[in-house]
Amino acid sequence: MKVLVTGGAGFVGSHAAEYHACKGEEIKVVVFDNLSRAELLGYEALNAMYNWNYLKGYKNIELIKGDIRDAEMMKKAAEDADVIIHTAAQTAVTTSLQDPRTDFEINALGTFNVLEAARLSENDPAIVYCSTNKVYGDNVNRIAVVEMEKRYKFADEKYRMGIPEDFPTDLCEHTPYGASKFAGDIYVQDYAYVYGLKTGVFRMSCIYGIRQFGVEDQG
Ligand SMILES: NC(=O)c1ccc[n+]([C@@H]2O[C@H](COP(=O)([O-])OP(=O)(O)OC[C@H]3O[C@@H](n4cnc5c(N)ncnc54)[C@H](O)[C@@H]3O)[C@@H](O)[C@H]2O)c1
Repeated sequence: MKVLVTGGAGFVGSHAAEYHACKGEEIKVVVFDNLSRAELLGYEALNAMYNWNYLKGYKNIELIKGDIRDAEMMKKAAEDADVIIHTAAQTAVTTSLQDPRTDFEINALGTFNVLEAARLSENDPAIVYCSTNKVYGDNVNRIAVVEMEKRYKFADEKYRMGIPEDFPTDLCEHTPYGASKFAGDIYVQDYAYVYGLKTGVFRMSCIYGIRQFGVEDQG
């Protein structure tokens, strides 16, 4: 089985790559990343390359330096994949406000390229997309919360398990990041409806952990 992880040098992607690589050497993991987080956040090269170098320790992980905006390269990387875990993104709201075009090209067009690569593959790969709470825009900020001793909780018991998938995503303020990730989210859903691709969308919220190189912008 071959698992392709876009953004595999990043926080979520490097964990996804390692998780699958640890399942056994018969599983081949391909990490596809343009190593741009370094550039965006101004990190020292060694820090930025940390996850990339860390994954070199696994014999069954192949590293490809590539850009999801490059449709041809994406298609080639995905042609024999059985699973694509798409984590690559421009991840900062602030950067999306300063440079909305690049944000759109990476998050919307880049995700479209991943989907097209999957659609055109004869392997019919499953796709997991890392979406975000930002797709709910300002709607989530209108939910009443109660202050507890160490945390907040939703006042309404119906949100006990978190925000449901049918929570409204429209008629609210987004940001360019929220909008470009939302475009990806909708496209991933649509490629399941229209082309029958096996897709899953996870709308994650402020996750954190080891091998995350965060700054105030994101992470
Ligand atoms: N960390 C969070 O709290 C959080 C919350 C919600 C959603 N997400 C989403 O989860 C995913 C992973 O986030 P993360 O925290 O691991 O971020 P991260 O920045 O650590 O990882 C993203 C990786 O994508 C790579 N990348 C960026 N543009 C690329 C391009 N054009 N081509 C190829 N690779 C590219 C970067 O170099 C980086 O290694 C993203 O899609 C993000 O929007 C993250």
